[in-house]
Amino acid sequence: MDLIKFIRLALLPVVVFIFLIAPAPSSRSQRPKNVEREIDALMAKMTLEEKLGQLQQLDGEGNGTFRPEHPDLIRKGLLGSTLNVRGAKNTNQLQHVAMDESRLKIPVLFGFDVIHGYRTIFPIPLAEASSWDPALAEQSTSIAARETYSTGLRWTFAPMLDIARDPRWGRITEGAGEDPYLGAAFARARVRGFQGSDYSAPNKILACAKHWVAYGAAEGGRDYNTTEVSENTLREVYFPPFKAAVDAGVGTVMSAFNDLNGVPTSANPFTLTKVLRGEWKFEGFVVSDYTSVKELINHGLAADDKDAARAALNAGVDMEMVSRLFNQQGPALLREGQLTQATIDEAVRRILRIKFRLGLFEHPYVDETLESGALLTSENRAAARAIANRSMVLLKNDRETLPLSKAVHSIAVIGPLADDKRAPLGWWAGDGKPADTVTPLAGIKLKVSPETKVSYAKGCETQGDSTAGFAEALAAARNSDVALVFVGEPAETVGEAASKSSLDLSGRQMDLIKEIHATGKPTVVVLMNGRPLTIGWVAENVPAVLEAWMGGTESGNAVADVLFGDVNPGGKLPVTWPRTVGQVPIYYNHMNTGRPPEATNRYTSKYLDVPWTPQFPFGYGLSYTQFKITNLQLSAQRIRTSGNLTVTVDVENVGKRPGDEVVQLYIRDLAASMTRPVKELKGFQRVTLQPGEKKHLEFVLRPEHLGFWNREMRFVVEPGEFRVMVGSNSEDLIETKFAVE
Ligand code: NOJ
Repeated sequence: MDLIKFIRLALLPVVVFIFLIAPAPSSRSQRPKNVEREIDALMAKMTLEEKLGQLQQLDGEGNGTFRPEHPDLIRKGLLGSTLNVRGAKNTNQLQHVAMDESRLKIPVLFGFDVIHGYRTIFPIPLAEASSWDPALAEQSTSIAARETYSTGLRWTFAPMLDIARDPRWGRITEGAGEDPYLGAAFARARVRGFQGSDYSAPNKILACAKHWVAYGAAEGGRDYNTTEVSENTLREVYFPPFKAAVDAGVGTVMSAFNDLNGVPTSANPFTLTKVLRGEWKFEGFVVSDYTSVKELINHGLAADDKDAARAALNAGVDMEMVSRLFNQQGPALLREGQLTQATIDEAVRRILRIKFRLGLFEHPYVDETLESGALLTSENRAAARAIANRSMVLLKNDRETLPLSKAVHSIAVIGPLADDKRAPLGWWAGDGKPADTVTPLAGIKLKVSPETKVSYAKGCETQGDSTAGFAEALAAARNSDVALVFVGEPAETVGEAASKSSLDLSGRQMDLIKEIHATGKPTVVVLMNGRPLTIGWVAENVPAVLEAWMGGTESGNAVADVLFGDVNPGGKLPVTWPRTVGQVPIYYNHMNTGRPPEATNRYTSKYLDVPWTPQFPFGYGLSYTQFKITNLQLSAQRIRTSGNLTVTVDVENVGKRPGDEVVQLYIRDLAASMTRPVKELKGFQRVTLQPGEKKHLEFVLRPEHLGFWNREMRFVVEPGEFRVMVGSNSEDLIETKFAVE
């Protein structure tokens, strides 16, 4: 044995021992104490104006540059953060003002909405949730963080965690759908992806859980509207994704626009202080949504600017986005005793704490040479394609219309979204560029054999009444073996301020589908949209329907992968699809009524003019293969209130292709001191199976899955019978029972 090898071997146990007893390599565990001392020292030097300056966030110019007033405000210590200022050059330039020219050298925190990608755009969050694979959301947010970091930004206003039971609300596109359990799983994953285990690390950014809270419950689905939600429903439906984000270490939270039970969420002490800080021990800071502090006046909660600043600060908002009331009114409020120095200091402390934890004081600048190489790399595009692949949901596939053969003689590619480069990027497309988008037409051309004739005709626009393009589209269909029709929503009709009273396909798109279908050619409808739509006629008449959502930069390649069978779709709907907008709100985890719907009894809970059932239930989605779920077993028939229960089931691919099934587990507490939902998702697993392959899956139900918030607002597991249901969607289920004693 040579000497070096001997030394290595001899020292190995010592190294292992040191490793075992040494603190974690990250300095994070020691950091809080030092940070608090550093904050104390800094705050001792700050004037009131400088303190209020840290609470101020202002918007940049539309193109990513800062506004002419920003450098001067920063020089004077009056601006702590910006939004929308981005690009390594811009951020460094402004940061130099803070670090070189301001008295206290407190770095600026640059934020931006990176909702589903910075430059490489991933599928909209609602689509990613359709994958039922949170690891994908962790991957996409981690890539987005890397791209974002390279531009000098250190903070994103994401993830958006609002549960949405109303597809009229355009912002349903930004979240994970209607379910708190699925929403919490995606919340955790997205926070981990953006922040990693230490958001001060290179290529990681600070996340922001928004919009706190119940913003998605806007009455009538009308954006910014009032919400009225019981505390039980808040705690069981709207809070869980936020709780998951806080537990995952999210650094910031954004207060919302909506009035909640009479107290707007940007001035709500119950949500901002009692729950967030008191119960959940959140240590980060709260930023208001855009001008939501000033909007307290419109709500009628505040009489004037001063009153609005008082209400928001005292309730627990720390940083004010865009309006400037903390800054303008803080000194007077303090003089008049309507605000204490301690409240201001606490807000400043929370913001500085995050700036220190981010490592901004040590590393205020970004390396300007990194930016171009970090954006839209081929690996990032490949990830976007794979994630889009897994986000698609096959809604219908009669007589195995799909997948298509790549050797098909001729294809008509039709529809307003077949070659649209903007729509697939959706709302909040970061710095995504339509020029980068692969459209379905481009993806299909790359996919098919050189002999295949691909003809393209737009047919109509997504909006408006013109049918001038129908003739060309019909001719293309008639002259082809198969017609693919790409319809859906343009980007500007989803997202913020994009509420709709109709969920029908806009413009003449439905007429186009009907006429193409009437040619008798095999027709496939591909939907590219950001919310559930009412597509009853399509669901009944067209043999194959694929939900591709707004799939991001690589959407066209991803759609082609699925249409031609290189990828077998395995996504499931994260939100119920209504038959008609009049059924909304319609969601799977509703309470029962005293008169559950019965087909033959008029005096039950239903409609006269439409079935009570949805078009597609929550959790629904098909595959090019078929699965069988059998052999539901429980580890016990009875458990204690503090006990766990193991649920096992077999899932088998009984078809001819490899494919993915998402096995879903639901429970129902059959009788309790408060009424309970008819079903609640409490577990899911997406598995890949070869033809003939069978897997044995295990789920564990714990007290946290079985309990609820009772009349005294205590979380309890009550004795009694529970139903447990497992299946491929929220309606197609096998079931058994157990008891809690
Ligand atoms: C308003 C939106 O509601 C919020 O989600 C976003 O982060 C801010 N504007 C900043 O752009």
